[in-house]
Amino acid sequence: MKQFLVTGGAGFIGSALVRFLIDHTEHQVVVVDKLTYAGNLASLAPVQHNPRFAFEQVDIGDRAGLDRVLAQYQPDCIMHLAAESHVDRSIDGPMAFIETNIVGTYQLLEAARHYWNGMADARKQQFILHHISTDEVFGDLHGTDDFFTETTPYAPSSPYSASKASSDHLVRAWMRTYGLPIIVTNCSNNYGPYHFPEKLIPLTIINALAGKPLPVYGNGSQIRDWLYVEDHARALYTVVSSGKSGETYNIGGHNERRNLEVVETLCDLLDELAPQQRAAGLTRYRDLITFVTDRPGHDLRYAIDAGKIARELGWTPQETFESGIRKTVEWYLANPEWWQSILNGSYRAERLGLTTSR
Ligand SMILES: NC(=O)c1ccc[n+]([C@@H]2O[C@H](COP(=O)([O-])OP(=O)(O)OC[C@H]3O[C@@H](n4cnc5c(N)ncnc54)[C@H](O)[C@@H]3O)[C@@H](O)[C@H]2O)c1
Repeated sequence: MKQFLVTGGAGFIGSALVRFLIDHTEHQVVVVDKLTYAGNLASLAPVQHNPRFAFEQVDIGDRAGLDRVLAQYQPDCIMHLAAESHVDRSIDGPMAFIETNIVGTYQLLEAARHYWNGMADARKQQFILHHISTDEVFGDLHGTDDFFTETTPYAPSSPYSASKASSDHLVRAWMRTYGLPIIVTNCSNNYGPYHFPEKLIPLTIINALAGKPLPVYGNGSQIRDWLYVEDHARALYTVVSSGKSGETYNIGGHNERRNLEVVETLCDLLDELAPQQRAAGLTRYRDLITFVTDRPGHDLRYAIDAGKIARELGWTPQETFESGIRKTVEWYLANPEWWQSILNGSYRAERLGLTTSR
């Protein structure tokens, strides 16, 4: 049994990872999360009372806070997911992205390096810091048959992807310069349960149910490679358990879809699964689709070659886009209280009573 430290564990992917670790392994997990607007303890409710789970509300920019948590929990590995993650927010206000994604990652690396230097030899050799990053660091692809590999040069487009690219470089430099054992993964777009309603898929489902317009940027022809979040959680555990220190692994779903196609698929599923929730006078959810001015610098196509993780570590996604998107719509229909508490802001107040420390 190992002690895992997961930063950003109250977020979308982090909470899926923590639920996976508690449900499918024997390991102990401590979550370090600042609880920004994107952090939601309700996403950790299924594991909250497990004795192997602990939560610490700490900002990764707070070095003293990180030192305390590392000394208290003595983790065998750190999985670093804490980040500002929404591209549109990075365009409106890049500073938080610089502070958390770059400076915060730097503080975490320094705290981890000092902690690792003080570890006993046997544990020191097993230690790993796993940095979770995005395929957006590679910029975009214009053809239809090329893919991002682990050696694709970095060419980020947005303040978000530039800040993530910076953090990837810092993480690799801490290995090269100080010997800190690290692994980096770059993953494509995730979707699934507990996804914050500002992102395309949950926003579309929730707006559709409310009879509101379904905004699609430009003409909706941007292509993303979609991965079901639970497949990503399993990939991250595979990498941190069996990956080689110093390596990078790309993770993708082999599910390229145009944004418009994604929105249309969601509308069709809602027509099938929730016809009675259509607003009065609406005969199909597709009629709510509204094209809006494109995002500045919007990348055209992302697509991941996930061959290395399949060949070397035996990971492939279990969900197809069709099975994953259906599960996702079903989850949002079955769990309105989770997303309604975000829409009405009560999820932030609920935090007060929920923090736990082991
Ligand atoms: N969502 C995707 O499609 C996707 C794809 C590839 C990679 N990623 C990467 O995976 C990671 C997780 O993404 P996500 O979608 O779950 O993000 P998210 O926005 O849902 O969650 C981020 C979490 O980090 C926490 N956080 C933010 N700033 C913090 C700080 N300064 N200190 C401590 N905690 C802080 C938030 O409270 C939140 O719980 C990110 O690093 C992101 O770049 C995301």
